[in-house]
Amino acid sequence: MSSIKAVARLAGVSVGTVSNVLNRPEMVAPDTRHRVQEAIAQLGYVRNGSARQLRAGRSRTIGVVALDLANPFFIDVLRGVETAAQRSDITVMVFNSNKDAAREAGLLETFEEQRPLGVLITPVNDTGEEERLRRLIDRGIPVVRFDSSARHSHGCSVAVDDVLGGRLAGRHLRERGHRHIAFAGGPFTVRQVRERHDGLAAVLEAGDRLTVIPLPDLTVATGRTVGAEIAGLPPGERPTAVFCANDLVAIGVLQEMTLRGLRVPADLAIIGYDDIDFAAAAAVPLSSIRQPREQLGQVAAVLLLEEANQPDDHEHRQVIFQPDLVARTSTL
Ligand code: RIB
Repeated sequence: MSSIKAVARLAGVSVGTVSNVLNRPEMVAPDTRHRVQEAIAQLGYVRNGSARQLRAGRSRTIGVVALDLANPFFIDVLRGVETAAQRSDITVMVFNSNKDAAREAGLLETFEEQRPLGVLITPVNDTGEEERLRRLIDRGIPVVRFDSSARHSHGCSVAVDDVLGGRLAGRHLRERGHRHIAFAGGPFTVRQVRERHDGLAAVLEAGDRLTVIPLPDLTVATGRTVGAEIAGLPPGERPTAVFCANDLVAIGVLQEMTLRGLRVPADLAIIGYDDIDFAAAAAVPLSSIRQPREQLGQVAAVLLLEEANQPDDHEHRQVIFQPDLVARTSTL
């Protein structure tokens, strides 16, 4: 990789002149500017962004730790982060903790060295890693939690009211006449799962029946096991509807019911959570509780950049969005 000195030598100018061509080209005489640009092209010189950022004293990069990039929910959130970051000419470095606390800890250690402008994270455990996040904050690196509602004093957070989301799903299924409803989700150590379940349970009435199907993870594959478990029950024991903790699980249930020749919604109504694009595109369009995904990402990024750029004028905020019901064929 060529250096700025090699460019200066080839163009017959000083390193300062090359730096001016890169940062303030209007200050350099056209023929000199042209000669330097020729040398840059000939040598294939690429400026070192990190070094430039460090010389300028502050990073122009934010780090994002997503919980599970295999889940389109997080891709949609990241799209919102990118939209807000681009408006401020900020680069976004995306990492995937893949729901692994040890990997998350390693990433946070890296941020202590790399010193990004700020960090957005969905913690693997909603109150986990407080010590490491605190160390980042103590080093002047603000942290915003997204898809996390942990009450804490040293940072902003952005989330959705998941209890309300569970209530919306439960009310919708009851309105459709369902009185034996399954909840499929897990692990229950995940706040989002717990709160969605609690919202559903809160709207059930005397005589209703709730069957909980705990899962090790929220994926299409675990959704398939839910479909198999429900289909394997004797008809009199089978719930008539299932509320899945996210759309990936709902897609898996739909797939399994279809493979077993059971009808959705006639034999089993299905509702998911997030309203990712695949919900509407499913073979039987899936009802879902919509999370404002891109908005979540945008607001999280805006709060982070506000704290990073105007720390003295910034007040921490815990922003909670409201979800809404999207009713489609799978429950109608
Ligand atoms: O990460 C698991 C789930 O929690 C996602 O599907 C999304 O609903 C998030 O809130």
